[in-house]
Amino acid sequence: MTFDPNLYAARRAKLAALMAAQSPNSIAIIPTAPERQRNRDSDFLFRHDSYFYYLTGFTEPNACLVLSADGRSTLFCQPKDMEREIWDGVRLGPDAAIKQLAVHEAWPSAVLDAKLPALLENKAAVWYPFATHSDLSARIEAGLNAVRARVRYGALCPTQQRDVCDLLDEMRLVKDEHELNIMRRASQISAGAHIRAMKRSAAMLRAGQEVREYHLDAELLHEFRQHGSQYPAYGSIVAGGANACVLHYRADAGPILSGDLVLIDAGCELDGYASDITRTFPANGKFSAAQRELYDLVLASQDAAVAATREGARFVDPHEATVKVLAQGMLDVGLLDANKVGHVQDVIANRNYFQFYMHRTGHWLGMDVHDCGSYVEPSEVGTFSERKDPLSGELIKDRPSRVLRPGMVLTIEPGIYVRPAPGVPERFHNIGIRIEDDAVVTANGCELMTRGVPVKADEIEALMRG
Ligand code: GLY
Ligand code: MN
Ligand code: MN
Repeated sequence: MTFDPNLYAARRAKLAALMAAQSPNSIAIIPTAPERQRNRDSDFLFRHDSYFYYLTGFTEPNACLVLSADGRSTLFCQPKDMEREIWDGVRLGPDAAIKQLAVHEAWPSAVLDAKLPALLENKAAVWYPFATHSDLSARIEAGLNAVRARVRYGALCPTQQRDVCDLLDEMRLVKDEHELNIMRRASQISAGAHIRAMKRSAAMLRAGQEVREYHLDAELLHEFRQHGSQYPAYGSIVAGGANACVLHYRADAGPILSGDLVLIDAGCELDGYASDITRTFPANGKFSAAQRELYDLVLASQDAAVAATREGARFVDPHEATVKVLAQGMLDVGLLDANKVGHVQDVIANRNYFQFYMHRTGHWLGMDVHDCGSYVEPSEVGTFSERKDPLSGELIKDRPSRVLRPGMVLTIEPGIYVRPAPGVPERFHNIGIRIEDDAVVTANGCELMTRGVPVKADEIEALMRG
């Protein structure tokens, strides 16, 4: 996709307008991520800071954006340096940055600290991302101290520090068409990767080969990179058998056995945007009766959550729809004993379902897999109700859940995880199932971007037979 600097300039203009509305004479300082040492002279693969990228589209390290509320943008970036470019790759450099990134000014990163006092002087407020860059507040304080030393000469020093994430989180929460198109492509690539892993699992077992989790992880990576994704959006989960009951399990060396289920939670990152898909499938391509019973229940709960996802609904609605279906299903299949826990309303009120379903049904998705954005409706932030949690006994404050608007993107990911325990039917022991799709909220419902990979049990079996 061609790079359009005006897209990012428009976002900067919007942010500047939001800053100006609260503090007309203010300035924002937004650095990219630091490079991190892996060992000795090797670094972890660099990944830009999402806020910085949202405003610049620039992926080099050692860069910082300074934006004033009047809309003027200054970029600090790595200078051209023949020797470093021979070792590390081409740098854009400040001169080219002005045109290519459509910023007003650009300087070498090394002069940022020296220029900060002049940038801060006579401003009323300074905005920056709070608690995201370990050295940033110290650098800003050094700049403020330098301004303070000049007050006797008539300089004014900012008196307010503001969290720029407060503004940027709201901007990032509602995706524009450019972002949605990248997310749709990322979803397609990830869907293809899941299909590839499913087919490979069945084919290897049919051929009598040993299958381990890393074999399927390799298939995912292959498909991601083959289609231009830069890297996985998060550590891929490839869990064979009982490992699926570990929520944050990572693809390791566990065996994938015929007769087991495999849970894969993996999505690629494409051009700065995440996808996040989970599928659970029979390693050999055929669900057992017990696996199928729970699979169909999780899928029914996902269907209910999808139906509850639309403009005007609350973020919590898909979760509540999921819990209703799962709670009733747990009673129906015998995971919960109605003689002990009562009716479905009791199971929900007392949170008995929590033994088998202990996470929420979704999260925002965007540049970050667990993307930014408040889960509380901003227009109702002052109101709350109090209740006692039946499991922990803690007093919980419930604030009004976010009202969904078109362009918000969230995951819908119910599951059931059955650890062996007294009273739990043995045929369900060690079954872990999650089904996760990525949804864009629309006026009439939602668009599931990730359905390029089948989700119905019959369709998964048909795919794995092929
Ligand atoms: N893959 C992380 C999540 O599903 O939230
Ligand atoms: Mn997720
Ligand atoms: Mn996931």
